[in-house]
Amino acid sequence: MSHIKDYVEANKQRFLDELFELLRFPSVSADSKYKEDVLKTADYIAEKLTSAGADKVEVCPTAGNPIVYGEKIIDPSQPTVLVYGHYDVQPPEPLELWHTPPFEPTVRDGKIFARGACDDKGQMYMHVKAFEVMQNTGGSPCNIKFMIEGEEEVGSENLGLFVKANKEKLAADVVLISDTAMISLEHPSLETGLRGLSYLEVEITGPNRDLHSGVYGGAVANPATILAKMITSLHDENNHITIPGFYDDVLELSKEEREALNKAPFDEAEYKSDLGIDELWGEKGYTTIERTGIRPTLEVNGIWGGYIGEGAKTVLPSKASAKISMRLVPNQQSATITSLFQKHFESIAPKSVKVKVTPHHGGEPAVTPTDSVAYKAAEKAIEESFGKAPIPCRGGGSIPIVALFEKELGLKTVLMGFGLDSDNLHSPNEKYDIANYYKGIETIPLFHKYFSELSKQ
Ligand code: BES
Ligand code: MN
Ligand code: MN
Repeated sequence: MSHIKDYVEANKQRFLDELFELLRFPSVSADSKYKEDVLKTADYIAEKLTSAGADKVEVCPTAGNPIVYGEKIIDPSQPTVLVYGHYDVQPPEPLELWHTPPFEPTVRDGKIFARGACDDKGQMYMHVKAFEVMQNTGGSPCNIKFMIEGEEEVGSENLGLFVKANKEKLAADVVLISDTAMISLEHPSLETGLRGLSYLEVEITGPNRDLHSGVYGGAVANPATILAKMITSLHDENNHITIPGFYDDVLELSKEEREALNKAPFDEAEYKSDLGIDELWGEKGYTTIERTGIRPTLEVNGIWGGYIGEGAKTVLPSKASAKISMRLVPNQQSATITSLFQKHFESIAPKSVKVKVTPHHGGEPAVTPTDSVAYKAAEKAIEESFGKAPIPCRGGGSIPIVALFEKELGLKTVLMGFGLDSDNLHSPNEKYDIANYYKGIETIPLFHKYFSELSKQ
């Protein structure tokens, strides 16, 4: 352990400088204007994997953004860890809300502020540096394969195809991912589940053109009003989702499992004050930990229509739209929920408007075992570097490829995330604690060490 710490200590500044260089690439996957930057980012990672000691490094083209693959096979008879991460990021908008520009990483208060600082460049790059650390402190104890993709934030469609087409190349014993959160450095935790996702766009059309709201208002249904009513009706007075059949496949946890989940430290006052809200909201009968971990939800991600420019324009809009997502839990299925939503939403539209529902991407929920060799290795690694055993907890976010790893490669995943829920993922002023970055770099080699050791027992 101490030589790992020594190596990290001696190379600290360079590890940070390299991450900063990575963060300066605006590798936004949702917007094609960044295509060139995306390609440069992939090349940068490939170069860094090579210089860290990977044997076979490839930038694999796909129909979309390339996948960076690299490996170091020390001995085919030893266990193999497949490290997954993503180098693409969410769009930085709204830019005016950033205190410093999203692609000019800046340190304030011990935290790196930049788009991708936590999700997922900062966390993914810990694995590249941990790999370098291992190469310089006695070598890696396990075979390692890296697969770093550039389309996670837009649904990982091409990665899915890549996985199906490269089963042998990707053969491994476990998938290791740092793209989730822990409670805090004082309360390390390991996520043991991810929610699935159904994402749709809805459009309500009223009159065939925008109308003068005085001349026609009162006689013609306003699509914005109708849309608001329809959306409101999707939750009842207990904040239960009203789509028929929505909860049919939800796996209810036992009393004991729920009690165990709720043992995780949670400070409601701090949670509210961090978010600037006076009261929490959610499904009746469940705690906040449950509402964000083991219960499905429905959210409006964006809503628009009519005049939103400066000043006032009196207009009855022709159209109104919204982007709606549902987070899913075991054993809900994305395709089923998408179609239940579609049927229901079409059925509640009044005759005064037309409704169009367009499904976007989806993904299945996943749970990871806590009794596996890999989970135990992660537990031991964290216990050694944090001085405390990690608390298992369920994550609210989604990484759809995790369910696919299991389906296509038969592989379970360990979610060893070092971010915090409050790191402003997908939001202005995304950040990552420098302390978490170094802690991750120190902890990952221990995972490899214990995974190798425990695999032999
Ligand atoms: N890293 C996140 C997922 C995440 C964040 C999991 C925090 C657990 C805790 C990932 O990059 C992400 O944002 N996923 C998307 C889904 C994807 C299909 C766009 C999400 O959860 O919205
Ligand atoms: Mn991510
Ligand atoms: Mn993300």
